[in-house]
Formats: sequence, structure tokens, C-alpha cells
Amino acid sequence: MTKRMIGVIGGSGVYDIDGLEGAEWREVDTPFGAPSDAILTGTLAGMPMAFLPRHGRGHVHSPSSVPYRANIDALKRLGVTDVVSASACGSFREDMAPGDFVILDQYVDRTFQREKSFFGPGCVAHVSVAHPTCARLGAACAEAAEGAGSRVHRGGTYLAMEGPQFSTLAESKLYREVWNCDVIGMTGMPEAKLAREAELCYASVAMITDYDSWHPDHGEVDVTAIIATLMGNAARAKDMLRALPGHLEGGAAPCPHGCERALEYAILTAPEA
Ligand code: ADE
Repeated sequence: MTKRMIGVIGGSGVYDIDGLEGAEWREVDTPFGAPSDAILTGTLAGMPMAFLPRHGRGHVHSPSSVPYRANIDALKRLGVTDVVSASACGSFREDMAPGDFVILDQYVDRTFQREKSFFGPGCVAHVSVAHPTCARLGAACAEAAEGAGSRVHRGGTYLAMEGPQFSTLAESKLYREVWNCDVIGMTGMPEAKLAREAELCYASVAMITDYDSWHPDHGEVDVTAIIATLMGNAARAKDMLRALPGHLEGGAAPCPHGCERALEYAILTAPEA
């Protein structure tokens, strides 16, 4: 059995975590280039942890230029078994309000300008992402977030858009009314797909900052309004992370959903090829 280690990818507003014992920023290199930033490692309540700010400290990577493959590979190299992704999002649902957290379980991937796989010519693999997140890790995040005072929705479909502009009104209505998505953001993909290819458990905590552009009473999305909500969300995300080790049931037991065996039947290329 492998000892679990939590990797946290922090989104807008979450550029470090508090309370890590033995905290050290470590440079990690990967065959896919450098990750978004150095990685903060240490232990929290006895649990080894690694924290990576997705946009880099100082917010220097746009959603399209985040080195998603290097980020996942670097965490894997450090020994991470479970990745918790935190990111800002807009809401398509009246009852999913700014300040609420959504534990995602589905995605519609509309990104088109990003490297989406570790595989390619020379080694061909088709991994299943029918259920792209880990239910065991998601439940632990939900419990930790609720315990830390957040309103949590367990389950939600995330529309991953390329950005950097926000959606048009017509797009917002399409995603909400026709595609039935719950929230929208710019960074959830291909991160989730890559975590699956790397055989990591992956849970995503989408933190609502706005109602996108569909809501008749809320007008257009704008960054100034988002930032005010984002700072409160980020503080509660840090509280959730501090509480997380206490909610990780199963200790070192293998993931009951098989995240760590995702490649078992996925690789088509013959070993000698
Ligand atoms: N991130 C936060 N709010 C968003 C929105 N409305 N659309 C895309 N990304 C977002």
C-alpha cells in the first residue's frame, strides 16, 4: 500500500497554504517543461502535502498558458497520490450562489489550445474519463469544506472554456439552458484528464465568484466584482485544506474507484514497438 500524499493546485486567490510543517518551496523539472511555479512541500496534521499555485505566484500564467502537463507530472514525481484542485468559476444556477463551493463530478471540455495528453505518437493510449473525478477524495473535500463553514454542492457539471474573454450572453444561455451545465471556468481542463492519465485521484472544488452573464439581475461578469468574492472564497479554501487530512477516510487503502489503475487497459502500443 502506498502512503497517501495530497497535492493541491490552487487557483486564482490561492497562492500558498497556511500551517505546513517543514514548509519548503522546491523547484521540480519535468520532461514536459517547468510547472507553473516552485512547489511548496511539507506536512499538515501528519499528512504529506505539496502545493502548486496554478497561475504562479504573481498570477503570471493565463488559463491557456498554464503548463498543465508539467504541473501534473511534477506532483506525481514528488509522490502525490491525490490531487485537490481549487478554482474560481461562474454559476449557471440560481441556487449555486457566489461564495458556494461545488464538488465537480462532470465536465464539458470546450478548450482547444492546450496539450491534453501525456500520450501521442510512439505510445498510444485511450483512457476512460467517463467519471473524471474521484468520489472518495471529493467526499473528503466536501466534508472538510462544510466543516470549515462553506456551503457545498456535492456534484456539478463544469463547462471548461478556453477564455481569456468571458462568455457571450448567447454562449452563457446555451451552456445553461441547452447543455445543462452548472458552472463555468477556464482551468478545469485538461487538468482532470491529465490527472486520470497519471493515475492520480483527482477532486475539484469549484468556488463560485459570479453568475456569468445569463442572470437578468446580475449583469455582466467583471473582474473587479469577481475579486471581492474570490478573496473570501480563497480564505475558506485554505480552511478546507487545513481540515482535509482529518477527513481522508481509508488511510493508505487503494482507491475504491480504481483511479490508480486507470492505464491498466488503456495502452494500445505494443511494448516492443
Ligand atoms: N471564472 C470565474 N468566473 C468565471 C466565468 N463566469 N466564466 C469563466 N471563468 C470564470
